[in-house]
Amino acid sequence: MTKTIVANWKMNGSPNFIEEFIPPLLSALSTTQHKIIICPPFPFILPVRNALKSTPALLGAQNCHTDVKGAFTGEVSAQMLADIGCKAVIVGHSERRTLFGESDELINTKISAIHAAGMRAIVCVGENMRMRESGKAIETVIQQLKATLPPSSNPKNTFIAYEPIWAIGTGVTPLPEEIIEMHLALFEALKNTTPLLYGGSVTDQNSAEILVLPHVDGVLVGGASLKADVFQKIIG
Ligand code: 13P
Repeated sequence: MTKTIVANWKMNGSPNFIEEFIPPLLSALSTTQHKIIICPPFPFILPVRNALKSTPALLGAQNCHTDVKGAFTGEVSAQMLADIGCKAVIVGHSERRTLFGESDELINTKISAIHAAGMRAIVCVGENMRMRESGKAIETVIQQLKATLPPSSNPKNTFIAYEPIWAIGTGVTPLPEEIIEMHLALFEALKNTTPLLYGGSVTDQNSAEILVLPHVDGVLVGGASLKADVFQKIIG
């Protein structure tokens, strides 16, 4: 079954890395049944786009500003990303919420900007360990969903990525039943078919079993998307 596999390179990569990463990726892309979206850091979007030109893989970014243009030194607008061929933008990632103080309100406005630019928002939601241990994981995540999704959201311009904070970069993943429970709660809260991705310590060792869980339409991969051989296995 066709799923969506998103690579979030975070702040990693270099011209040399891309040169080595692209050939195995091209061969994996020629056989995969899945939809692939690669989200490199800003400077590498164009070179990766050019290298993947003849493939069905799509390009995405990891952040954008809320405005279309203006005096915002150091920022990049959603429209600029759309203009250079991006089809999606990751937004609401816990690293941006925690390290850069992004609020639900800001994320909501960014999603509107992504939609206005004609791209898909990959909206990340997820609870921390304290919330999970106090039995408030679902409540926390549904609250984030409601606060961040603008009225422009629909199943064609949005992905929701469930990324429990305690699973990001830790090698620990939720139990299958925990993923099933959360994705069902998201599906019920959305009341539509917006695709739901799972993210957090996805590797070639666990991706196949995660991808077959109910209401899991794909995965958002961090660290493992930077290892050509591992990513090749994930996209199958
Ligand atoms: P890891 O796959 O490295 O745990 O990162 C997940 C993530 O944050 C993807 O956005």
